[in-house]
Amino acid sequence: MVIVYKSNTGFTKEYAEMLSKAEKLKLYELDQAQEKLGLEDEVLFMGPLMAGHIQGIDQAVKHFTVKAACGVGMTPPGSQALSTLSKANYVPNAPIFYLQGGYAPKKVGWLKRRMVNMATRSDREALQDKGSRRTPEEQAQLDMYLKGGSFVAYQNLDTIRKWLREQG
Ligand SMILES: Cc1cc2nc3c(=O)[nH]c(=O)nc-3n(C[C@H](O)[C@H](O)[C@H](O)COP(=O)(O)O)c2cc1C
Repeated sequence: MVIVYKSNTGFTKEYAEMLSKAEKLKLYELDQAQEKLGLEDEVLFMGPLMAGHIQGIDQAVKHFTVKAACGVGMTPPGSQALSTLSKANYVPNAPIFYLQGGYAPKKVGWLKRRMVNMATRSDREALQDKGSRRTPEEQAQLDMYLKGGSFVAYQNLDTIRKWLREQG
């Protein structure tokens, strides 16, 4: 198994590098992988979420044998994020994982920033309305929506690492 990833603002790259180091798996960026790997290669694909879609997943499925896919987004992890993800990204016979990356508004163009602002508006407003009743986690999420921030953490990789080890 090798890891292939795509990343726009660096969060997925960080996770992919951490995972590659931890599990001693080779790591390729998607464009580079297309030159070096083929359909016979088994791949764990990691890509950023954009409007619910894992970017690069279609290319990966076309060119490699995708054994698992992982979407990296900005919403908090949990069953809701995962079920939305699984509905929008079907990969034949492969599990789908979700990791919370972060948001880097300064690294994305104005149009995409506007898209994010619109898509997160109700979430943001709900968090803002809570005022001082916000938990520390909710405060961190709100700060990320407003100013950007990262939730990348090594321990978030536990579920994927467990799955990788089960593959032998
Ligand atoms: C236009 C746009 C759409 C996005 N859509 C989603 C989304 O549907 N769900 C989500 O959780 N995050 C979404 N995000 C947030 C990114 O997935 C998040 O910032 C991710 O960590 C980026 O990974 P990268 O740094 O590897 O590119 C979106 C970001 C942009 C700019």
